[in-house]
Amino acid sequence: MHTVLVLGGYGFFGSRICTTLAQSPSVRLLIGGRDRARGSPAVQKMSLSPEQFVQVDANDIDLARRLAQMRVDTVINTAGPFQGQSYTVARAAIEAGCHYIDLADGRQFVAGIDCLDAIAKEHGVTVVSGASSVPGLSSAVVDRYLPQFQDLRSIHMGISSGARAPGLATVRGIFGYLGKPLQRFEGNAWATTYGWLDLRQHRFPPPVGSRWLGSCDIPDLELFPRRYPTARTVTFHAGFASDLGHLVVWSLAGCVKAGLLPGALPFAAPLKRLSHWIEPLVSDEGGMFVKLDGVGHAGEQKSLTWHVVATSNHGAHIPCGASIALSQKLASGRSLPHGAMPCMGLLTVDEYLAPLKGLDIWEVAP
Ligand SMILES: NC(=O)c1ccc[n+]([C@@H]2O[C@H](COP(=O)([O-])OP(=O)(O)OC[C@H]3O[C@@H](n4cnc5c(N)ncnc54)[C@H](OP(=O)(O)O)[C@@H]3O)[C@@H](O)[C@H]2O)c1
Repeated sequence: MHTVLVLGGYGFFGSRICTTLAQSPSVRLLIGGRDRARGSPAVQKMSLSPEQFVQVDANDIDLARRLAQMRVDTVINTAGPFQGQSYTVARAAIEAGCHYIDLADGRQFVAGIDCLDAIAKEHGVTVVSGASSVPGLSSAVVDRYLPQFQDLRSIHMGISSGARAPGLATVRGIFGYLGKPLQRFEGNAWATTYGWLDLRQHRFPPPVGSRWLGSCDIPDLELFPRRYPTARTVTFHAGFASDLGHLVVWSLAGCVKAGLLPGALPFAAPLKRLSHWIEPLVSDEGGMFVKLDGVGHAGEQKSLTWHVVATSNHGAHIPCGASIALSQKLASGRSLPHGAMPCMGLLTVDEYLAPLKGLDIWEVAP
């Protein structure tokens, strides 16, 4: 049995990851978090035994010793927001000799994980950051279609959520950079855009349709110009199922940019609560796209767009695919490269989406 500890295992994405891993015959699952009052019912709901809840703080200075004591083989870290976090949990995992996988979407956090590469290799463990939609799924999509291009010139990506709002860690991560300047590679040079501004629309395949999107700060903006050096432009936009909700966030971003508000973080929790109340009135459909443009092998202009679409609010499971697939790989005895790396080149699109089979999620591939 391979012991997997999910830090934040009763959180929004953590609980979805745990529900799937609880069915894996080769996994002994431990659900970790700081709050026993939230953790114990979660363990009960998944028909696990009470000792499978572990009260643990990611910032515990004794974390490495506790991981070793619990004989953890792999830690999945969902305890965000990761923006501005240090690598305390990853370092503790390495020290304890366990593999480490996180769902981080913090740009510097994911892009900087390779600072642990040497020490992870020394301890013979795998450390993966950003094992989620970005850059886990986005890079797998680009890797799948890259051989069709002689010269890949631009990568445009985006996500529009369904009605169900993610957990507070995700919302706080996003609201932290609302209206703040961020750099992205455009026309072969770094250019400034602003978080959740740069309003545009994207038409997703039915039943999702057209959605408003705003620019986001994600690891791919840093990592893709290095991984795909011919690409002169890399952008990422995201948006909400409710047009009104999106325009409220866009207006807040505008107020921050104009200096009318110092930041939007205080609005994260109230707006998350509001989105919960209006959930029944909002579309439960969402999707993600990756659009590639460039020159094909016959010298022709080539453009293709990949989508994944979800209904029934099942889009909320998409960010969980990578951590489930990677931990199942480890649990089944297949090895991953030792060292510390962003989640790129470790999973194919099919491997990423395999744990989501049976949900109302499907690919619309070009
Ligand atoms: N890369 C991507 O594509 C992508 C996509 C979606 C989400 N994400 C990331 O996924 C992360 C999780 O999001 P979520 O929506 O699931 O958030 P959430 O519902 O707020 O869950 C976070 C969980 O972490 C736990 N936690 C927080 N601080 C902790 C600590 N110090 N020690 C132990 N546990 C701690 C929380 O429980 P307690 O507070 O009770 O301990 C909670 O269960 C976010 O940071 C988000 O950025 C990434």
